[in-house]
Amino acid sequence: MSAKTSVRKRIAVIAGDGIGKEVVPLAVEVIKATGAAVEFTEIDWGADRYLADGTTVPPGGFEMLGRDFDAIFAGAFGDPRCKTNVHAKEILLGMRFQMDLYANVRPVRLLDTVLCPLKGVEPKDVDFVVMRENTEGVYGDLGGVFRQGTPDEVAIQEDINTRKGVERIIRYAFEYCADHKKLDGTPRRSVLLCDKSNAMTHAGGLWQRVFKEVSAEYPKITTQHMYVDALCMQMVRDPRQFDVIVTNNMFGDIITDLAAGLQGGLGMATSGNIHPGKTSMFEPVHGSAPPIAGKNLANPLGAILTAAMMLGHLGFTQEAAKIEAAVLEAVRQKKITQDVGGALGTREVGEWVAGKVENG
Ligand code: NAI
Ligand code: MG
Repeated sequence: MSAKTSVRKRIAVIAGDGIGKEVVPLAVEVIKATGAAVEFTEIDWGADRYLADGTTVPPGGFEMLGRDFDAIFAGAFGDPRCKTNVHAKEILLGMRFQMDLYANVRPVRLLDTVLCPLKGVEPKDVDFVVMRENTEGVYGDLGGVFRQGTPDEVAIQEDINTRKGVERIIRYAFEYCADHKKLDGTPRRSVLLCDKSNAMTHAGGLWQRVFKEVSAEYPKITTQHMYVDALCMQMVRDPRQFDVIVTNNMFGDIITDLAAGLQGGLGMATSGNIHPGKTSMFEPVHGSAPPIAGKNLANPLGAILTAAMMLGHLGFTQEAAKIEAAVLEAVRQKKITQDVGGALGTREVGEWVAGKVENG
């Protein structure tokens, strides 16, 4: 029987580097505490493996992930011992690009008023989702340098925008909007296109045309548009106005760090790298945070909430809801790390949440 048809869902766990190695095992314990019918296989890709034997991704690695697993749970990649961080690029961007995980879904939710740096903003005011195109844009690293090291040096970084790539992420955003409710139970209603089409006219023009075409198929969904700079200002002034935002790879990267700030920081933010029908990958938004790695300081809640997002994707809706409820309770009872105003260590927070999930 193939993995895909076995009863237990198979999850590949790639903790990676730095705080990934601390938060991922705790999130796995939290998943186990839900009793979900899943099994885990640890994969050692990351800086340690790269430094030991030069391997970033072994031959056939991505095919193996797609074939043998229902989902991938990843930590973070990046290590000061690896100056080029080539391993991070090959592993992380490799999964996104080679497995064609085109929708980077980043929910933005405020769990408790105290976590938000803005005055007068409550949990009901911050409940939106950013759909970041995940396979194109400037992250393909196309381009080159001419006359390097001379006063006439020229560096060109190409921004790739294909009709297919733009259309599928925009369509994903509309489908998501049509299918998903807000946390308060009201339907999602609006998709906003974020671009810089006034300055980047060629790429922006394609996004604008495709957005208009696809939106016509969803007459019940309202559409909006903002330039990325204006959107940053609006996100801080009034995050209530956002529902589903769709944007390119780089703008999505940047605005979701800003959005993470609304939720209490990078330690709270979650993401899925999704291609419907294919093995998808789930990871907290934060990186490997070398300065705090190994010190029991990292906030594990982003990874734990990401685990809930993955369970939801795999169909374990009740288990996901249990985790979310336990994390909410951890925040309310201040069973949290320093970055979000608590006093507990990484392990203590993870163990508290796992205990809450297990014993209610
Ligand atoms: P970072 O996310 O690792 O850290 C940014 C800041 O947020 C730091 O002050 C850090 O201490 C804090 N922070 C992050 N996660 C936290 C958590 N869970 N709890 C408490 N504080 C937390 O981003 P940075 O510093 O830009 O990059 C560090 C390394 O991680 C680099 O090698 C970078 O390339 C890599 N990186 C990897 C990502 C990934 O694997 N998806 C994403 C972003 C960066
Ligand atoms: Mg980022």
